[in-house]
Amino acid sequence: MALPDSFIQKLLDNNRIEDVVSGYVAMKRRGRNLVGLCPFHGEKTASFNLYPETNSFYCFGCGAGGDVVTFIKRIENLDYMDAVRFLADRAGMQMPENRRENDRDTRLRLRILEANREAARLYHQALYAPEGQMALEYYHSRGYTDATIKHFGLGFAPPGFDYLRNALRAKGFKDEELIAAFLLARGRSGGTYDVFRNRAMIPIIDIRGNVVGFGGRVLDDSKPKYINTESTLAFSKSRNLFALNFAKNTGRELNLCEGYMDVIAMHQAGFTNTVAALGTSFPEEQMQLIARYADRINLIFDADGAGQKATRRAIDNLRRTGLDVRVVTIPDGKDPDEFIRNKGADAFRLLLERSSNAIEYRLLEIGRTYDINTPDGKVKYMKEATALLARLESPVERDVYAGRLSQLLSVSKDAILQEIRYGERRQQRAGMKRRLPELMRQEQKELRQVNPEAVHYPRAAKAEESLLGTLLMHPDYIRTVRKELPCDNLVTAFNRELYERLLEREQQGLLVELAFLSADYDQDGMAYISRMVRDAQERTVSLEEAQRYASIIREEHKLKALKDPSNASDEDIQGILNTLRERKQ
Ligand code: UTP
Ligand code: MN
Repeated sequence: MALPDSFIQKLLDNNRIEDVVSGYVAMKRRGRNLVGLCPFHGEKTASFNLYPETNSFYCFGCGAGGDVVTFIKRIENLDYMDAVRFLADRAGMQMPENRRENDRDTRLRLRILEANREAARLYHQALYAPEGQMALEYYHSRGYTDATIKHFGLGFAPPGFDYLRNALRAKGFKDEELIAAFLLARGRSGGTYDVFRNRAMIPIIDIRGNVVGFGGRVLDDSKPKYINTESTLAFSKSRNLFALNFAKNTGRELNLCEGYMDVIAMHQAGFTNTVAALGTSFPEEQMQLIARYADRINLIFDADGAGQKATRRAIDNLRRTGLDVRVVTIPDGKDPDEFIRNKGADAFRLLLERSSNAIEYRLLEIGRTYDINTPDGKVKYMKEATALLARLESPVERDVYAGRLSQLLSVSKDAILQEIRYGERRQQRAGMKRRLPELMRQEQKELRQVNPEAVHYPRAAKAEESLLGTLLMHPDYIRTVRKELPCDNLVTAFNRELYERLLEREQQGLLVELAFLSADYDQDGMAYISRMVRDAQERTVSLEEAQRYASIIREEHKLKALKDPSNASDEDIQGILNTLRERKQ
């Protein structure tokens, strides 16, 4: 069964590779990518790479690679359909079981694209027909040349409720298709009418050259200023950027503006590497799309309140892409379109060159909120500024900005770096707290399947997992630990067996590594074990800590015996009493 594109697309949207993979492998951010230990072969240095921009992975060690479905196929050992089902479940999506419906969606999507293309042609024609004169004057008054109008395929939707409907009906389109394309709407009385009327029409073209939607602007000051195509089978706002079809081949630097008109003006002025977000939310998918085509992005937003808000939102969502983000502030609250019209392209080029990077922008912004000449303002400024710097991944960058803050505030750089580290810890804790309930639910579920006893002996199981994870990370600890912790002391059967295996391998001088266990454990078992390893990997565990886990396990072993005294020896019982006495103190 072929699955419809739209379903797969949604599946991919809802299963971002970094989220999916990080459920299996501990990944660390390195620049724009994430790296970790490859889940498909044994290794000690991380060569497994995730590329969020392309939703793909590749291991330089073993050559494994692919998309998120491939990853699940391999890691869950599923065939394609089951891997898809797996991801659908993960995202709480229904599988499209009905084949006829899929075919229908695919056909309808094609009809929508055809209708859009026809509509764009008709709108463009109408612009140069007598009824389009006003609109043409409007474009000209904004300084757009006819070449620009043609390049972008700009047009005009005539007034009246049936211009497009009649023209497209005559070309064989059905009203239902045009409604699905967001070109027609259905009225209360059941009739249909044109969505876009008396508007300057801007076609939105995707990177493959399809007309996927439209923005329609009024010619005067009436409201709403824009009507935009809402999501259709052929169009999703968050997966498209206006003018990316032109900008995508211009190099690795893009300008991001707020509006269609800004982009058009920028292109006309020679800045053909300019795109606009469609709407004001700057969702992360859109930012990832940018990251696919650029290493550096210049945010060019109005200096007004809305523009500042947009800047901040975009910066936040861009931060995770690892792009070099710069902010171009346009003086006097103008937008780029106006600025270029008034001051010219060269003046704009200067602004671009003087753009500050995102951190500097935020620091400036925070600086405006506090008066650093008062002690109180200084402290508050420092708190907020260091919290901001704590989010920087790069120590070099941190150091640079810490130095700058130190000068500005006349506070020692060490004190600032210290404060940044505090901020970082606070943020980590906050992040953990947010994720905790979900993590615990997931963990419980896994535990019940693989190691059912863990639910009954949580403290013991926790210590066992920590210890086993540590031993897999540091097999050199095994020699010491084995003397202090006999196999039968492990409380849960699964972990006991694993411990025995590790000791045995070590005894025989074999490599103690996760990868060598896969012959003995099924996928779930392996998943459970790799989680122990992953957890241990995130902390650096010393031998002393490993010994502490061992002693917790011994203690829990005795307590377990108390719950079931028939199995306990006199010695055990004595030990238990001692333990309990110690605990009381
Ligand atoms: P602007 O109001 O800055 O529009 O909104 P603009 O494109 O620069 O138009 P001019 O220069 O005022 O003529 C920025 C973007 O926000 C979206 C559009 O994508 C617009 O390009 N927008 C704005 C809407 O979707 N609907 C609206 O009513 C207003
Ligand atoms: Mn504008």
